[in-house]
Amino acid sequence: MNYSLNQELVRNEEGFFSSIKELASEVRKRDDFVVIFHHDADGSASGAIAIKALEREGKKVSWLCLKQLYKENIPQIKELGENYLFVDFGSGQLDYLVEDFGEDFFVLDHHQPVLIDGVMPKAKWQVNPLLFGINGGTEISGSGVTFFFALALNENNFDLSVLGIVGALGDMQDSNSECSLIGLNRKILNIGVEHKLIDVKKDLRLYGRVSRPLVSFLTFSTSPTLPGLTASEDNVKAFLTQLGIPLKDPFTEKWLTYNDLPFEKQRELTSALLVLLLENNTPEWKIKELIGEVYTFRKENSSSPLYDGKEFATMLNACSRNKHSKVALSVCMGDRNEGYSKAIALMDAHRENLRRGIEFVKQKGVEEKKSFYFFDAGNAIDESIVGVIAGMLYGSVIQENKPIIALAHNTDGSIKASGRGTSDLVRRGLNIGGALKEISQVVEGVEGGGHKIAAGMKIPLEELDNVLSLLEEKFIEQLGL
Ligand code: C5P
Ligand code: C5P
Ligand code: ZN
Repeated sequence: MNYSLNQELVRNEEGFFSSIKELASEVRKRDDFVVIFHHDADGSASGAIAIKALEREGKKVSWLCLKQLYKENIPQIKELGENYLFVDFGSGQLDYLVEDFGEDFFVLDHHQPVLIDGVMPKAKWQVNPLLFGINGGTEISGSGVTFFFALALNENNFDLSVLGIVGALGDMQDSNSECSLIGLNRKILNIGVEHKLIDVKKDLRLYGRVSRPLVSFLTFSTSPTLPGLTASEDNVKAFLTQLGIPLKDPFTEKWLTYNDLPFEKQRELTSALLVLLLENNTPEWKIKELIGEVYTFRKENSSSPLYDGKEFATMLNACSRNKHSKVALSVCMGDRNEGYSKAIALMDAHRENLRRGIEFVKQKGVEEKKSFYFFDAGNAIDESIVGVIAGMLYGSVIQENKPIIALAHNTDGSIKASGRGTSDLVRRGLNIGGALKEISQVVEGVEGGGHKIAAGMKIPLEELDNVLSLLEEKFIEQLGL
């Protein structure tokens, strides 16, 4: 199979689906699987889909969640079972997977594959949309690919479409000009809608529609930032009061959420926010973020964060990015008791960590280099969420004209770098994952890669300056600066 960084492949959906079928029929013949997945929302949802699908076929399954698939993890993986299924990573690590497992491993991924001298290492059982001219950054996630695999194993696995959508939202695949899921994600969505599992509607899409009290819903809004309201609780209270929107239910004293409001009040609030943005000359693309498609899951309790697709994804990030992958997995597998209560608590802690992280960066300041923004959080921000924080700085702390590289210090003395960009920069040529992959191949000890818009890498401390100047060069080249 040919794949190169710059060549546009002809779209071949048929090929994509037939390679999934081939992989599924090989899997059917085997037993004793280890599912290895990435520690974010998409990774956890992918892991859960794979585990459920395999268990439903009567297979023995064990699993391992990793911060990232590094060479050093291979021995640990080998101890767990006989057959290895990597989901939401693997394509970027084909070089050493092939070295260690020969052709005997399975990959369901959407990250940019590693290329050695421009050529992708041969892997017999790898499915990745990018190899079929399908955009793995914008129209299908790791969970989506794994969902289609589950469906190929057994057509009764349509219920897993919900997790397929959660993964796509976790990877922000609805962040396009339409603010909706597109391409193959749309296919997954339609399956969920057909089976009465998912509802889709156009609405205010600020984060926390279902579970955030109205005051925090507006006070913490960053996509878009609401002039005068974001970060100002008093102004938010006054704004809501002026609209005649109560903050609490007068009878139960419960804080009201956007979802609790009657339809007319939701409309009034939405219009008032639109007017606010327009009056403050907010750029059109930011205004567009305000309203778009929202996805809700019918089988969930309508006051649970799991009811809303984006909140479900955040809950998974809150668990698995903070070393509680078992909790994330149990929620995906259907636990609405003990695991779910733990997840709720972890979500609060995660929000607080993000808030503190953003505060830290605001105080410390962000450096502006020629081709990227940069900050080094040292030990103040955990490496597993430094990328999430970097992405949240767009629209407030930094402008959309350059990517951002954020550093955090790993416990083993190495450095973790996370890169984030915007879809506009990607249209202009930005490929952070590609840049990191190329640097990994020329600098000893560096391992990294990812998507055009979001990527990461591990850097030995002594190579840091070298890597930063290489990044400067790569981004200048990609963006034609
Ligand atoms: O490994 P995976 O593909 O699941 O990770 C992609 C990561 O990049 C996600 O954690 C997602 O939140 C992040 N991302 C981002 N901004 C985007 C797209 C993806 O921060 N626009
Ligand atoms: O860790 P972070 O959230 O910044 O990761 C962003 C994206 O980069 C994810 O899709 C992740 O899988 C990828 N990544 C990678 N290699 C690394 C670190 C991150 O491919 N060493
Ligand atoms: Zn992913």
